Amino acid sequence: MTYEDGIKVIVADASHEKYVDLILDTIREAAKKRGTGIAERTHEYVATKMKEGKAVLALDPSKQTELGDAFVGFSYIETWGNKSYVTTSGLIVHPDYQGRNIAKRIKDHTFTLARVRWPHAKIFSLTSGDAVMKMNTALGYVPVSFNQLTDDDAFWRGCRGCINHPILEMKNRKFCICTGMLYDPAQHKGEPTPVEIFQEIMREMAKRESPLPTSHKESPLPTSPKGEE
Ligand SMILES: CC(C)(COP(=O)(O)OP(=O)(O)OC[C@H]1O[C@@H](n2cnc3c(N)ncnc32)[C@H](O)[C@@H]1OP(=O)(O)O)[C@@H](O)C(=O)NCCC(=O)NCCS
Repeated sequence: MTYEDGIKVIVADASHEKYVDLILDTIREAAKKRGTGIAERTHEYVATKMKEGKAVLALDPSKQTELGDAFVGFSYIETWGNKSYVTTSGLIVHPDYQGRNIAKRIKDHTFTLARVRWPHAKIFSLTSGDAVMKMNTALGYVPVSFNQLTDDDAFWRGCRGCINHPILEMKNRKFCICTGMLYDPAQHKGEPTPVEIFQEIMREMAKRESPLPTSHKESPLPTSPKGEE
């Protein structure tokens, strides 16, 4: 989708792997600046998310760089616990583009992508950032204790690279510095999703060589607009 200011927000594919190292550097720099922990991700991990249609990328076509359109922002989704949970993770907006509503657009895309692909999965995120808490709350997430999140070890292994991991271990995975926030679709039955984004994501999924798998074919989401969001 291209917004009025010319910024494009898209579901990434294999052709966007060239942006991965810049994305990872930008995430590392931001964590250093905030003095917070981050789950360290490898190039291969992020590239795979792109290939699987689980990553959202924001680009600025009005500014050309050696990679092509300038990198603006990124986030990705992943399923856990046999697709009963989906996370949105790794949200980053390049410092040159912060404060321009870009994170909100990316978040709307990852949220909608998760709802379209796994309509019955609970969506959660772990965050220590006020901005993310604000956006999650607007989408209907609520803060929860960690025992309401997935017990999939593969998810929690992702926290190992974080400087706060010893705290998580000490608390037996029940609490940490991050706040857990959960969106339970069962509590939001019949609620619409941002309509333009929904249609754009359906178009992008259909364009792919092998259409992206969804877990429940029978359940197209409601498509009426979601007000302010
Ligand atoms: C946090 C970050 C993603 C926000 O990106 P952004 O494009 O500047 O955010 P947006 O302009 O879309 O703002 C979205 C909402 O968050 C709020 N917000 C943005 N930055 C904020 C901050 N530092 N503190 C509190 N709220 C903030 C905005 O006011 C807006 O809320 P509103 O719609 O009610 O006004 C970006 O600053 C960033 O990449 N930071 C470094 C990495 C990071 O902190 N990632 C989050 C990990 S938890």
